[in-house]
Amino acid sequence: MSNDKLQALARRHLWMHFTDMGYFQDHDIPIMSHGEGCYIYDVNGKKYLDGLSGLFASQLGHGRTEIAEAMAKQAGQLAFFPIWNSAHPAAIELAAKLAELAPGDLNRVFFTSGGSEAVESAWKLIRQYYAEIGEPRRYKVISRNLAYHGTTMGALSINGLTDCRNTFEPLVPGTSYVDNTDAYRSHHMSDGMSSEEFAQKCAFEIEQAIKFQGPETVAAVFLEPVQNSGGCFVPPEGYFQKVRKICDEYKIMLVSDEVICAFGRLGYMFGAERFNYLPDIITCAKGLTSAYAPMGAMICRDYLMEPFLKEDTAFNHGLTFAGHPVACAAALASLDIFEKEDILGNVRRNESLFRELLEGLYDLPIVGDVRGVGYFFGIELVKNKATKESFNETEAEEILFNFVSPRLSEAGLICRTDDRGEPVIQLSPPLIAGPDELREIATVLRKVLTEAVALVAKLQAPGSLKIPIKDE
Ligand SMILES: Cc1ncc(COP(=O)(O)O)c(C=O)c1O
Repeated sequence: MSNDKLQALARRHLWMHFTDMGYFQDHDIPIMSHGEGCYIYDVNGKKYLDGLSGLFASQLGHGRTEIAEAMAKQAGQLAFFPIWNSAHPAAIELAAKLAELAPGDLNRVFFTSGGSEAVESAWKLIRQYYAEIGEPRRYKVISRNLAYHGTTMGALSINGLTDCRNTFEPLVPGTSYVDNTDAYRSHHMSDGMSSEEFAQKCAFEIEQAIKFQGPETVAAVFLEPVQNSGGCFVPPEGYFQKVRKICDEYKIMLVSDEVICAFGRLGYMFGAERFNYLPDIITCAKGLTSAYAPMGAMICRDYLMEPFLKEDTAFNHGLTFAGHPVACAAALASLDIFEKEDILGNVRRNESLFRELLEGLYDLPIVGDVRGVGYFFGIELVKNKATKESFNETEAEEILFNFVSPRLSEAGLICRTDDRGEPVIQLSPPLIAGPDELREIATVLRKVLTEAVALVAKLQAPGSLKIPIKDE
């Protein structure tokens, strides 16, 4: 089908997610047709480096015929059967594999169709667990400012993103939020606080929130190993150990939301391993199948199933397509490749080069902060590096969305520009990327950000017109 026809049909029928559909009534929709390795091609044949792994998900890159063949074989054998009161070999094998890979006694695997459902399921399980053990008042959840945990009503309520949440109020009651670990913007860090003290301060806030809510009413703390939204906030040294201790003290569960951070993104199978803590539950999705099929999971410590091992007690929750055989086959094939090709080793070997290349952009006056670990980095853009002054909303719109974002795409790099906190560019390339692809990312960024510097200078020049607003 021609691009024109596809554009017309998409405009008429396809409701894209989190998308300003009005904008695309008179702009071309990027329509991707195929991919190979770290690259993706649009219907016009233009090639892009997939610097975001689709949406933090295509760990092994595109065009993996081994995974496609495993999925086809499974579909031919048993395309579907639910895991409600029955099972099938693919779900059993995958659950066992995840239990083997996950740290500690995280041995019980509850499948979902994606990340929001994993988070939703975790909160529901925690609530029912506490009810079963005679503590029904424990239902509240604490999460962090700006954190994204999904879109279903429970997961949405856990989001620390006010704009994302408030459209859908009233939300599920029982959530509250504490500060994230944004060291760059923390005035404590600017005042010379050590990383250790910062960890103490951030963990202390969680403890204060627990006390404020009433410890006997708090069920869980939901945290990402590296917080995505806001731009890859890395935890300060010792943070998770302190949080773990607080959770233990107040009998509160620590949920590691690893929808992005699991499956090699941080150089380890699970983000909790990278920062050396044992959560009660890991929620994951995206990279579980390397994005060859939609799938998520909640991986729980053994004790969480104990109340459900009695007869006549079931976790009152389920999803038709969770544990879908074809998705399980994709995940098993993907995890097999992780081992055969030493994917974790590739990320660990190249992480410092990736960091070095991105930190090499610090000479540009708008590059304020480069942060991240593994193959997961954010670059915060600022108006004034010395004072860390941010771009205001209009400037951010003009520079980030009207200029940097389309120019990166024109220059053949897919990454994310985001201003849910401060303006950031996020990078999360496929885990098969090597030095060549990482250098290509840095080269395109330098070119486009250098142009952006010129644009900022023009907009700030005395006598220059005010920053134009989109469509003005
Ligand atoms: C940390 C985290 N949790 C949950 C989700 C929701 O996952 P999904 O979009 O698969 O529902 C996301 C999505 O990006 C995420 O980053």
